[in-house]
Amino acid sequence: MKYLKFMPLCLFSLFSLLGCKANEGEPLDIIPKPVSAKTFEGFFTLSSATPVLYNFDFEMGSLLIETLTNHLSDYYKIEGSAATYSAKQSKGSVFLKLNPDAKVHNEGYKLKVNKRGVVLEAKELSGLFYGVQSLIQMMPAESGAYESIEIPFAVVEDYPRFSWRGLHLDVCRHFMPKEFIFKYLDFMAMHKLNTFHFHLTEDQGWRIEIKKYPLLTEVGSKRKETIVGHGRSSKEYDGTPHGGFYTQEDIKEIVKYAAERHITVVPEIEMPGHALAALASYPHLGCTGGPYEVATKWGVFHDVMCAGKESTFEFLENVLAEVLELFPSEYIHIGGDECPKTKWKECPLCQQRIKDEGLKDEHELQSYFIQRMERYLNSKGRKLIGWDEILEGGLAPNAAVMSWRGEAGGIEAAKQKHNVVMSPGSHCYLDHYQADPKTEPLAIGGFTPLDKIYSYEPVPDSLSVEESAYIMGAQGNVWTEYMKTSDHVEYMVYPRAAALAEVVWSPKAERSYAEFLDRLRKLARRYEYYGLNYSRVEFMK
Ligand code: ACM
Ligand code: ZN
Repeated sequence: MKYLKFMPLCLFSLFSLLGCKANEGEPLDIIPKPVSAKTFEGFFTLSSATPVLYNFDFEMGSLLIETLTNHLSDYYKIEGSAATYSAKQSKGSVFLKLNPDAKVHNEGYKLKVNKRGVVLEAKELSGLFYGVQSLIQMMPAESGAYESIEIPFAVVEDYPRFSWRGLHLDVCRHFMPKEFIFKYLDFMAMHKLNTFHFHLTEDQGWRIEIKKYPLLTEVGSKRKETIVGHGRSSKEYDGTPHGGFYTQEDIKEIVKYAAERHITVVPEIEMPGHALAALASYPHLGCTGGPYEVATKWGVFHDVMCAGKESTFEFLENVLAEVLELFPSEYIHIGGDECPKTKWKECPLCQQRIKDEGLKDEHELQSYFIQRMERYLNSKGRKLIGWDEILEGGLAPNAAVMSWRGEAGGIEAAKQKHNVVMSPGSHCYLDHYQADPKTEPLAIGGFTPLDKIYSYEPVPDSLSVEESAYIMGAQGNVWTEYMKTSDHVEYMVYPRAAALAEVVWSPKAERSYAEFLDRLRKLARRYEYYGLNYSRVEFMK
């Protein structure tokens, strides 16, 4: 007994002698890992008596304040008094400090936790928002009813490696309700992802209301049935109609919800291929005039928009005019992938266009198509981004390239001094299997387990330092042919999107998969609390 009593004292003095202190130097459980995080001995105790102060207009930053205070009240049942305005920190408080002169990077923040309290400082609201996300992850991972919680003494200095930290969602193969889009955005925000690529039009469904062309949703948002099983082998259909679309009011809500969370929504309106839903609605858009049907199976279809008719461009400009009113994003995605040239080869109007414009072939016709759309977007002050096929036949002068068929397209575009988002199928396709297909729900194919995504490096070795500057970032793509429900989407996306978040935010040298998994176990408690149907395969090994 005597001996046992003596032990803690002995250990304590041994630690002191060696200079080891309780939590000093312990890593913080933040995903994505911060640029720099130092911990010191001791904890700040936060309770319902701890004031939460902010020094900016409440209306401007209400969401980030509430993200913090709601977390305290929901997750720990710590109900403090309402957050209040204050120009200065007071002792024992949490102070959210917007300081345009702060020496921090764009979107970055500085977080100090010591015995005086917590000071989170940034020069922009986005930085404060990300700082709040980090601060939350420094709190206990377990939810419950707490009298108080302890936050380790620390100095965190943090900012993102890339400006495009993207996650995509295909809502065309399977429609996803607006409420799920909100949840998707919430989890993006938790991971400091800032670009939501909203894939809105496809062969299998047109999902955005366009007032000038009501048939796009009356006809194009519905398909009569859907192929069952794998598209490569199945001949069976479910006989069940599938449909859905977002009204312009829905879109406004989504864009606003995202903006409050510092997420830009980049809409994708596919052209000239993957357009059967548009063609079914307005058959004159195709080379043959139809009839066409909204697709009921997956794949690439020969019927695409006619590049010979002026009415095609008139239609697309009118559609984009409404899209631009709804989405303030700098970039507008025009698709451009997987456009077979079969019909263009046979179409007199497409061939006439080739002749009139002095084009070499159908690839140059595709380039002509994209360049025309770029001129339109640029004239409205926006930029065009498309899948890497837009390189074929010549890249439009100001276009950005999303590299999906490997990295070659991205490398070529960067060498041509064009901006690039890396999203190669090898590492960034979250519709691929994440474990042995025998144990997983049906997926399109591929194999992209968590560690593979984590190992992704968006800047290829073959680029010079100058060329590397054109890599805006990377993105995870979520094609939903085989994801009928939002639960299934969550299962495919998380935790792989957490790995991607670290790829696009954290310094390359700071990344360690083993250590990421440790932090992920803590973050998973939060996934559970918020009802995210994440994949546990990596935790069962
Ligand atoms: C793509 O996956 N077709 C861009
Ligand atoms: Zn044509």
